[in-house]
Amino acid sequence: MLTRREWMRQAAGVTAVAAMPGLLGSKGHAKTPSSDDQAISGAGSLKAHAAARGLLTGCAVNANLLREDEGFRKLLAEQYNIVVPENCMKWNILRPTADTYNFTDADSLVAFAETHGMKVRGHNFVWHEALPGWFATAVNKGNAQKFLVDHIRTVGGRYTGKMHSWDVVNEAIWIPDGRPDGMRTSSPWFQMLGPGYIDLAFRTARAADPTALLTYNDYSIEYDNDEEGKKRTAVLALLRRMKADKVPLDALGIQSHIHSVSKDGFSRGVSELIEGAKALGLQVFVTELDVNDDAIDTDDMAERDKIVAEVYRNYLTAALNGTEVKAVLTWGASDKNTWLNHGTKFRKQHPDRTQRPLPFDPEYAPAPAFFAMRECFDNAKKR
Ligand code: G3I
Repeated sequence: MLTRREWMRQAAGVTAVAAMPGLLGSKGHAKTPSSDDQAISGAGSLKAHAAARGLLTGCAVNANLLREDEGFRKLLAEQYNIVVPENCMKWNILRPTADTYNFTDADSLVAFAETHGMKVRGHNFVWHEALPGWFATAVNKGNAQKFLVDHIRTVGGRYTGKMHSWDVVNEAIWIPDGRPDGMRTSSPWFQMLGPGYIDLAFRTARAADPTALLTYNDYSIEYDNDEEGKKRTAVLALLRRMKADKVPLDALGIQSHIHSVSKDGFSRGVSELIEGAKALGLQVFVTELDVNDDAIDTDDMAERDKIVAEVYRNYLTAALNGTEVKAVLTWGASDKNTWLNHGTKFRKQHPDRTQRPLPFDPEYAPAPAFFAMRECFDNAKKR
């Protein structure tokens, strides 16, 4: 079993390690004080602690890092037993033109996972975002059903038997659009096919890949407040209606993009989701966990990291209560790559600093959130 320092020496070479300020404990580095001495690989890894409770744990994978960054590949193989593509199974990456597919990055990820004995979640078949440029002109009411069905058959069929689960429909509920059932009317899929696109997608997905767990995935349903409560109610009503209509549905994905500072907690919200899913016989996955730290006042990194870890601890304690949640994935592994640092959109309050929302810091050293995750796995009941 390697300590983090030994691991970094192997991955990067002693000289390079010595040049990394974080590993030398320079001012501002936010590592847990004793982390260099704590074994975090092998039996100390996230996946070992998760597996001891029958849990899967993983992260979203950026295809460029997977291709180019040996340290990232080592981290993935060391820490996780499931991966999900951050972008490379979305329409805008898979479908360069209306008639062609590009599976290069998606195939690489699936091959990497196979080599390292990891499971793969597919993300996603149907979403109102990440559509290719040609979509708006080529797809219309007359041919949308054919596009949707062909896409799911082709992509789902290619990876049949290799996927743990698929996010079949992503983010179909959007309360501000004003429908009583909460459906997102601004989605092109809704506009072209009506609400029936959801059932069509799930039925097509089951036929294309009978073994993947078919998942409905959504966000802003975690907190104990009225706004998220309304969305949660609409999501659960959708899932209940689908089950009543015998639509093949196996799991609820709770994205879990949460915040470091909030007036609301998530104990009631999360338990409503879990109880609701349980009543329908669904598994639950935490699919995209990260903690937006922009609202933290202090610039002290150690302090910020501690606050982020505390939010991980609170959230996962709620989510892992009971045995319904079977997998916990973060949206990225390291702060080196997080959507929250793309541009300044999510750095409104502190545009001059980068966010640190993930369990590993930009140098792949474990952050306090790593230890919070491990501790929560240890405290969870066996699945
Ligand atoms: O790769 C190009 C790069 O070549 C180009 O220079 C740059 C300029 O903008 O764009 C890069 O692509 C970006 C890509 O992320 C990779 O970083 C796209 O513009 C950008 O739209 C894309 O954003 C992704 C977003 O989904 C939309 O697909 C984020 O990475 C990804 O983290 C995010 O993930 C979503 C989940 O799928 C669903 N739940 C919410 C979650 C966060 O928004």
